[in-house]
Amino acid sequence: MTYRFLETRRDGAVERLTLNRPDVRNAFNEHVIAELTDWASQAREAAARHEIRAVVIAGAGKVFCAGADVAWMSKTVHYTEDENLRDAMAMSRMFAAINELPVAVIGRIQGAALGGGAGLAAVCDIVVAEDEALFGFTETTLGIVPAVISPFALAKIGQAAARELFLTGARFSAARAKEIGLVHDVVAAAELDAAVHRHVQEVLHAGPEAIAAAKALIPTVWGRPIADAMPITAAAIAARRVSPEGQEGLRAFMEKRAPTWNKDTKVTKDTKA
Ligand code: COA
Repeated sequence: MTYRFLETRRDGAVERLTLNRPDVRNAFNEHVIAELTDWASQAREAAARHEIRAVVIAGAGKVFCAGADVAWMSKTVHYTEDENLRDAMAMSRMFAAINELPVAVIGRIQGAALGGGAGLAAVCDIVVAEDEALFGFTETTLGIVPAVISPFALAKIGQAAARELFLTGARFSAARAKEIGLVHDVVAAAELDAAVHRHVQEVLHAGPEAIAAAKALIPTVWGRPIADAMPITAAAIAARRVSPEGQEGLRAFMEKRAPTWNKDTKVTKDTKA
């Protein structure tokens, strides 16, 4: 698929993706959703072939992402209920596909991440935001609800913050976004690329299979009683200990040398696609 609204660039073991619809602040319509879903499936395959170990998602222009395209959503008034459901499911699948990528996904947020844009931040593993960025689950101010993004946003911010922010649609600062768990790192605008680069380097120093296993473990264990989690967590660590990657990591530490996967850490400092 050739992309009209996405820019992509492979940079060593890092896949760089930039939403590229800056005239509407990277809002997504059905075409962007189809492209992002296709891109996520390509990225999944590249990860399975061990070609990529991290993804950086950025937005072109002043704003990371203004969420769903309001002009597109207002057209859906003419859709049947089935057509509306089909559209919403496509958007759900897009978020799920990014959420489940077996590599670390880093979000680079400038300007704003609103509505589905905040949802996009929620499906990133590590979110770096400039200190002036604004966040908001703004849907209720448009008379709709943050529905499709809710499982991903709730997993990050919990019910207490959601009960205020989903209901009011209020815009909030990067500092507040960090306080509630939507953002991990807040930096001055001039530091954004350096901060993203630092997180990319950290990811590339961790074992790629260990990252995939750790990422899969979190939703599996979350919310389970400890007794139910125990066999799952024991199996997870046992599998890693005997794996070639686990053995290499443990041996490298004992031998006071870098593990072999550290050879893949060369990437540019340019964080966008
Ligand atoms: N859908 C469609 N178009 C959008 C959009 C969206 N979600 N967000 C912004 N745009 C369009 C604007 O209509 C405007 O179009 P125009 O140039 O034809 O007038 C253009 O993008 C620029 O927007 P503007 O508001 O002038 O830019 P800004 O940089 O001053 O502010 C935002 C950026 C993101 C803070 C602001 O556009 C905004 O609040 N957008 C709404 C976000 C939202 O609530 N999204 C939730 C959707 S569920």
